[in-house]
Amino acid sequence: MSVVRIAPSILSADFARLADEIAMLEAGGADWVHVDVMDGRFVPNLTFGAKVIETVRRLTELPMDVHLMVVEPEKYFDDFVDAGATGLTVHAEVTPHLQRQLTRIRELGAAAGVALNPSTSLSMVENVLDDMDLLLVMTVNPGFGGQQFIPHSLEKIGRARRMLDEAGSRAVLELDGGINRDTIYPCWRAGADAFVAGNAVFSADDPRAEIGMLRAQCVERA
Ligand code: DX5
Ligand code: ZN
Repeated sequence: MSVVRIAPSILSADFARLADEIAMLEAGGADWVHVDVMDGRFVPNLTFGAKVIETVRRLTELPMDVHLMVVEPEKYFDDFVDAGATGLTVHAEVTPHLQRQLTRIRELGAAAGVALNPSTSLSMVENVLDDMDLLLVMTVNPGFGGQQFIPHSLEKIGRARRMLDEAGSRAVLELDGGINRDTIYPCWRAGADAFVAGNAVFSADDPRAEIGMLRAQCVERA
């Protein structure tokens, strides 16, 4: 079976204690740190930019999976990679020159990802499968942490898995939104191999242990 990657989203972290929160993620065995960049235009919320990426980079050597919920994402590629991002994921809905942008991300030495909103068809990426290191299927409408997983996503995840396999793609299939102990197992069964988790980790009674609990759900059950 494929490797399971758990990517806690610091959107739900306590920023007054960011160093402790990042240390907790490391101690809990997080694979990546997921950083949600929002511009108040593509999504109705504002978060952070290069300064926070640089701060997180000083606190950890974990891969930093940066999710760009912004229009004109290409404006930020150089600064974000310089600041320590190891993966940049752009939304297909706002990136008409997707092939060019993915190529540019790879040129900068980062993993190139494409994110799709719940209403966006998988056909948006069928012509860039070779240019993509990660496909991020949104399982909520982006903008906020703590939302409910959209059940219809399961069928899309299965189709995404088949599309990647049939193309011989080695891209990681990542999910984002409403992932918790209950939703992660069917998603893993449907073929996802990386899971963003914000609320599920940071609001858990024991956030550090929750990372392992999420991973433990992804096992073949008799
Ligand atoms: C949503 C963000 C997510 C968010 C996930 O727009 O892209 O990464 O932090 O949060 P949860 O896991 O709480 O749904
Ligand atoms: Zn995200």
